[in-house]
Amino acid sequence: MNILVTGSAGFIGFHLARRLLHEGHRVTGLDAFIPYYDPRLKEARHRLLEAMPGFRGHVADMADAAALEAVLAETQAEVVVHLAAQAGVRYALEQPASYLHNNVQATFNLLEGLRRHPARHLLIASTSSAYGVGPEMPFRETAAAATPLNMYSASKLATEHMAHAYAHLWRQPVTAFRFFTVYGPWGRPDMAFFKFTDAILRGRPIDIYNHGRMERDFTYIDDLVEAILRLIPRVPEAGRPVAACDSLSPVAPYRLVNIGNSRPVPLLDFIAAIERATGRRAERNLLPLQPGDVPATWADTALLHALTGFRPATDVDAGIAAFVAWFRDYYGL
Ligand SMILES: NC(=O)c1ccc[n+]([C@@H]2O[C@H](COP(=O)([O-])OP(=O)(O)OC[C@H]3O[C@@H](n4cnc5c(N)ncnc54)[C@H](O)[C@@H]3O)[C@@H](O)[C@H]2O)c1
Repeated sequence: MNILVTGSAGFIGFHLARRLLHEGHRVTGLDAFIPYYDPRLKEARHRLLEAMPGFRGHVADMADAAALEAVLAETQAEVVVHLAAQAGVRYALEQPASYLHNNVQATFNLLEGLRRHPARHLLIASTSSAYGVGPEMPFRETAAAATPLNMYSASKLATEHMAHAYAHLWRQPVTAFRFFTVYGPWGRPDMAFFKFTDAILRGRPIDIYNHGRMERDFTYIDDLVEAILRLIPRVPEAGRPVAACDSLSPVAPYRLVNIGNSRPVPLLDFIAAIERATGRRAERNLLPLQPGDVPATWADTALLHALTGFRPATDVDAGIAAFVAWFRDYYGL
């Protein structure tokens, strides 16, 4: 297939594009290389993709409608996987406008562009933090997500809602993923697993929020990519739910799907896994809960399983060992 991956220089986009190329698909990558974290990491990821047959990369800001239109017109993609975004919960307190530009405006431009260049299936990334603090655990896609705590979550809910409206009005089939804390090699330097490993290997203290009383449903990157691959052919059809737990819209070819490990891990156990993998002990700096953060996440993956027959299963020790091995090799630590 001919597949457009937005955010292809990002952590997840890079892994997805690489796997799609291995499977023999043609992949167009699009990324603005926003300077949220070290652009050298994004450049290194894109260089690896550029070296693979079947890949074509574009540097463009999706919030620029004309630049995006040029890529869509050239690509005529059968499938679009939209991963480009301003990510991060904490940065949303400092630079909220970045979430309007890179999430709301950029996604709006994509939805408008796909009216001219419709795809068989549009898959867009949303987040477990869209659930906020209301719903009971584990989080089910059918639960109301009405308590976003920060501009990241609010902007992602806005993109879900816009995509639903376009799926309804223009019959563009959409699957919106809610990802749960993804980690692994080539990961994001702003995320805890990366910062903890970096600090521990350099003998610096780590900041642990809410005094460690946090739980996350940590999802290993290869599992996430496998789930996305299996969801690509599962195009939502209005009026055809696949299971009682289906989140399929009653009025549009649109569904939400959690992708998580469905096994929440206490943050302190996660840190212990990094300590085992690095062979070093972490110096802990205990801090209160950050504003805008949620204390726990836990994915119900019944719908993912009903759609794909797959459930993420990599445990934290195996996943962290793979990440630490990559990190040491890449940074020479
Ligand atoms: N990593 C996680 O744990 C996680 C969890 C939940 C949701 N998500 C979502 O998954 C997607 C991928 O996340 P990631 O971890 O790979 O993040 P990332 O920051 O590594 O990748 C996102 C990429 O999008 C690009 N980008 C941002 N704005 C753009 C724009 N206007 N035009 C073109 N490109 C732009 C960035 O340069 C970056 O390379 C994002 O939508 C994110 O919100 C990630």
